[in-house]
Amino acid sequence: MKVGVARETAPGERRVALVPETLAKVQKAGAEILVERGAGLGSHVPDSAYEAAGATVVSTDELYAQADLVARVQKPSADEVARLRSGQAVVGFLQPLLDPRLAAELAAKGVTAISLDAIPRTLSRAQTMDALSSQANVGGYKAVIMAAEAFGRYFPMLTTAAGTAKPANVLVLGIGVAGLQAIATARRLGAVVKAYDVRRETKEQAQSVGAQFIELKSVADATGEGGYARALTPEEQKAQQDELNGYIAQQDIVITTAQVPGRRPPILVTAAAVAGMKPGAVIVDMAASELGGNCELSKAGETVETDNGVIILAPTNLPASMPGSASLFYSRNLAALLVTFIKDGALAIDPRDEVHTSTVITHDGRVVQAATQKLLEPAAGSTTGGSAA
Ligand code: NAI
Repeated sequence: MKVGVARETAPGERRVALVPETLAKVQKAGAEILVERGAGLGSHVPDSAYEAAGATVVSTDELYAQADLVARVQKPSADEVARLRSGQAVVGFLQPLLDPRLAAELAAKGVTAISLDAIPRTLSRAQTMDALSSQANVGGYKAVIMAAEAFGRYFPMLTTAAGTAKPANVLVLGIGVAGLQAIATARRLGAVVKAYDVRRETKEQAQSVGAQFIELKSVADATGEGGYARALTPEEQKAQQDELNGYIAQQDIVITTAQVPGRRPPILVTAAAVAGMKPGAVIVDMAASELGGNCELSKAGETVETDNGVIILAPTNLPASMPGSASLFYSRNLAALLVTFIKDGALAIDPRDEVHTSTVITHDGRVVQAATQKLLEPAAGSTTGGSAA
């Protein structure tokens, strides 16, 4: 079986699906590795490093002609979809819940699509394969670094000959994978950190990495299924926003990471809350995408400076801005997943393996994953699911 590592072509994408350090694991499982020329350059990995790890560097045409499975990070472009052929497999963040039509197209071509964003998060065996989490971790770290860069003051408390600097006040909204890393990073930089989430079980987790947990009186615990939050009712959301406003006004930095899978991100920071913030305060809205964000005023991919001097950042691909670490961790996740699919030198799907039934989106000319199938039914409404990758 030949696994081909594709060069990413999405604008701004610098990650690569497999780095040389992780090739041995996939090779040991029985695969030969092909690498599209220049695939690792965005992550500072030269072709020679892949060759030293036993891979063969090939042209784009050779990769798509010879690979049995094409490994990538982002969804294939229209040109790359056109290059994929029947009997071939493709693996990456395919986002079938956001883009079910891509799944339909791949099924029609006879391509087996395996989506890394569909790994079941609650399955402990799958944690090593959970690339959404590893990338959210990178994102949570980088969001704080960006906030520190945009903030015109110190993060830590400093005592100097010229007097004392007060520590920055940081509020993290949403204490999942990204939120926990944001708390830990802001603490390492010396900030005073508060955090809030609708799932009360996050209280201890936030405290364990050094944040003070905010308990809102107006909103009850909203733990949903599969370790995620449930969506709040409009009344609960309004009460939450009103109560949060008082906390937000005191902050220098607000990092937002709240999401409920399959929904528009909840608005936690309203325009009124931003109007109450101090000049020079910074918001980093990690949840921002074309579906909206956690801050009413954020614009995905842009920086907004409000009339009262609040800087709102809404980066949409933080992991790509740290391609070395992001690629390494993505690559480890992907290698852990790939070895479960390789049997006797070929791709084998085990219908009794929950990892396989969750991640295989198309096979044998059909869309086989139930959630994606549902979105493609003629009566299905507009699609709102998925997560940023
Ligand atoms: P996660 O699912 O682990 O955490 C989200 C948290 O939000 C959960 O703890 C949930 O309980 C909480 N939440 C949901 N509704 C809430 C509400 N109304 N109020 C307060 N908390 C609420 O997700 P993860 O992996 O940490 O990702 C967080 C966000 O960051 C996602 O939107 C993800 O797409 C995005 N992301 C963005 C990146 C970027 O480059 N901008 C990179 C990686 C992730």
